[in-house]
Amino acid sequence: MQIYFLTMKFSNTLIYWQLQNNRELPWRKTKNPYFIWLSEIMLQQTRVAQGMAYYLKFTTTFPTVFDLAKADESTVLKMWQGLGYYSRARNLHFTAKQIANELNGQFPSTYKEIIKLKGIGDYTASAIASICFNETTAVVDGNVYRVLSRYFGINTPINSSAGIKEFKILAQTLLDTKQPGDYNQALMDFGALHCKPQNPLCETCPFSDSCVALEKKLTKELPVKEKKVKVRNRYFNFLVIKTADDTTILSERKGKGIWQGLYQFPLIESDTIIDTETLISSEKFIQLFPDETTISLFNEKEIIHKLSHQHLYTQFWIVETVKSSKAKINWNEIKKYPVPVLIANFIEEFQLKSN
Ligand code: ADE
Repeated sequence: MQIYFLTMKFSNTLIYWQLQNNRELPWRKTKNPYFIWLSEIMLQQTRVAQGMAYYLKFTTTFPTVFDLAKADESTVLKMWQGLGYYSRARNLHFTAKQIANELNGQFPSTYKEIIKLKGIGDYTASAIASICFNETTAVVDGNVYRVLSRYFGINTPINSSAGIKEFKILAQTLLDTKQPGDYNQALMDFGALHCKPQNPLCETCPFSDSCVALEKKLTKELPVKEKKVKVRNRYFNFLVIKTADDTTILSERKGKGIWQGLYQFPLIESDTIIDTETLISSEKFIQLFPDETTISLFNEKEIIHKLSHQHLYTQFWIVETVKSSKAKINWNEIKKYPVPVLIANFIEEFQLKSN
């Protein structure tokens, strides 16, 4: 019951705000799913003011889905020029052809069917289903994340899978089931015009008596976005020496880093995965092995060792040579040395195969 009242209050406040701040937008005058689809795809690319010109151009040139389907792709792309992200335009054209040719021009009428179309995800399917078909599906776009995270004081990152789930459930709970389309658009408008990313209008906000972010002075901190670490790919070639008298080379890793103080086989780092030819003609290899060697790749498929900021694409090369003045460690004693897990796993497997 409490949830019901909270929902009603939230929705009523929002709808009341919308009545006083209504925007005259061309796509608000229609429930034609083809037009709503066009407007929603465009508005993901640009702000309302710029999107308007594209919307009018598209709907005038292609008044029905059949007209869009019949157009050349290059014409569609040309008209899309300036919006960027051209795969959206290609998907739009692909889906128009599918609706025209396979569905007799009939736009699917449920969220479940709409989301199956190419280029349409949860946001667009929810928008079309609620605006055109009154289906109770909540939209969650950047505006919605901002309003809900601030009002409820939620700091779950909005770009994490936990956040995406949490906000969708909350948005769905709050949705005004009597007027889902109007409510969804009011919430997006409120985020765009009032609860703005910078300088939100808190002094005149209809939610100011119960907004958690306002009360706790967290408006600037919310919503939270997780910083995605940039992962660097590195290509490691470990040279596993085996001399006639069963010795090898292991050396301590110097310098800072997670492997500091651990031991490793001689390492040649390359810019990509390399083959035997490239390896043996590298300067470092020739320097290490001036004498004749037999070389083979132990793992056909590179081992990908994932660290927080790096993915190590690793190849272990078995290098057999009669003798090497640098090979001072006997294979019998190799397990005494502290090595990274990546190398320990290799040693385990290598010794199993050799025995
Ligand atoms: N942003 C994207 N689509 C919107 C809509 N239908 N109403 C308000 N803002 C939007």
